[in-house]
Amino acid sequence: MEFSIKSGSPDKARCDCIAVGVFDSRTLSAPAQRLDKSAGGHLTGILHQGDMEGKAGTSLLLHGTPGITAGRVLLVGLGKEAEFGEKAYREAVAATLRALKHTGSEDVLITLSELSVAKRNAAWRVRQGVLAAHDTLYRSDQLKSKKDNDKPALAAIAFAVAGKDSKSAGTALSQGEAIAQGMNLTRELGNLPANICTPTYLAQQAQKLAKQFKLKCTVLDHAGMEKLGMGSLLSVAHGSHQPPRFIVLEYRGGKAKAKPVVLVGKGVTFDTGGISLKPGAEMDEMKYDMSGAASVLGTFHALAAMKLPLNVVGLIPATENMPGGAATRPGDIVTSMSGQTIEILNTDAEGRLILCDALTYAERFEPDCVVDIATLTGACVIALGAVASGLMANDDALAEALLEAGHTSGDRAWQLPLWEDYQEMLKSNFADIPNISGSRAAGTITAACFLARFTKKYRWAHLDVAGTAWRSGASKGSTGRPVPLLAHFLLKRARKL
Ligand code: BES
Ligand code: MN
Ligand code: ZN
Repeated sequence: MEFSIKSGSPDKARCDCIAVGVFDSRTLSAPAQRLDKSAGGHLTGILHQGDMEGKAGTSLLLHGTPGITAGRVLLVGLGKEAEFGEKAYREAVAATLRALKHTGSEDVLITLSELSVAKRNAAWRVRQGVLAAHDTLYRSDQLKSKKDNDKPALAAIAFAVAGKDSKSAGTALSQGEAIAQGMNLTRELGNLPANICTPTYLAQQAQKLAKQFKLKCTVLDHAGMEKLGMGSLLSVAHGSHQPPRFIVLEYRGGKAKAKPVVLVGKGVTFDTGGISLKPGAEMDEMKYDMSGAASVLGTFHALAAMKLPLNVVGLIPATENMPGGAATRPGDIVTSMSGQTIEILNTDAEGRLILCDALTYAERFEPDCVVDIATLTGACVIALGAVASGLMANDDALAEALLEAGHTSGDRAWQLPLWEDYQEMLKSNFADIPNISGSRAAGTITAACFLARFTKKYRWAHLDVAGTAWRSGASKGSTGRPVPLLAHFLLKRARKL
């Protein structure tokens, strides 16, 4: 798919289709009005016939509109003009592409990017337009022997912007594409089954990425981790025949002395629960338990494609969580890399066990801040559903920056408290800390409290993406989140937003 920016009058545009918006109660948007004028009132005539009200989610395809060079005009419902905001804008772009997907149109001009959205500029509209388009057109057929033969003919999408905006829109376009490609990598990895996407496979993908963008990539094997004393991480790997990997990616785009942002992604390539075995229903979805890791790789893809002037380190502890003769038993006590001992009361609370050693390893980079991304708790799905990721942090400014990045990108997070009161729920009679609290209350927060015991030396935030990283049910699949949030966070730090 190729994206571009166009300014100038759409009636002369040489393309297969022009998409224009219509507000509820048959009100043509400004670009639609201009087109209507060139078409001698043809669009107004059609609206008067009652074929299109302008309701959100609806569209009407017209052929052979008089006075228009393009073969087709797509009228896209925008909903009520007074309610037209960020969400309505994204959904209108998505509806446009859903409608065009199965027409013969190869290149289209979308004029929705000229509509005003409160507090957002043309660059935002273009960036979000590219992301919404990618999201709508994505499909995963990597493992189908017969590729879908109803693939969209769509090959080129142009976004219309006013002439004065074309420079900023051009930058936004390439940012949007870089983020979308990063999301696609995250989605492809997430959707792969655990028999293919093993810790070894994740490490190979990281190395491939490093080669493509000239990044530094180091992969530690079992012995390497043992040497570092990563006893907590390794305790999760014991039950599996798949060897664990610890992946270190380094992107150096900033000044040599600039402290890096460290991104840590949970890479459990399959989570059976271990000896604390999970129930069978929907267990297949635990192939997505490496979504945090996949989002770190996707964010690196975006970051490197945008050549941001920052230093960023990616850490991925990768392992399977399986039951087996050598698996960790409930009650086992292990020593983490930090020296703190952990009583593993539930082997299904494995994410925190692999993250804590990665968070200790992060110290060696003297980070400016550390953000971990993990499908950590079912409780987060109960609290926030599929709308927002859970955010917890030991630093208010960092939390604020991530929340803001979520809002701007439409990939939102919502903060939960990390007060000391919750720390009191983590007490072990036999070790420094248990890996679960005695009650199910505040499960998302107590998981973060566990991690907080390992992040005292730097500014840190934790994103629980258990509800947002993939969709269940008929549209099952990875979402590519929170790559947009992380990419916007980095863009802002690099002063490119
Ligand atoms: N990977 C799961 C969390 C999860 C569950 C994400 C369902 C998405 C959907 C994690 O490793 C886990 O099993 N967490 C336990 C923790 C509990 C044992 C304290 C959970 O949430 O049930
Ligand atoms: Mn688990
Ligand atoms: Zn897990």
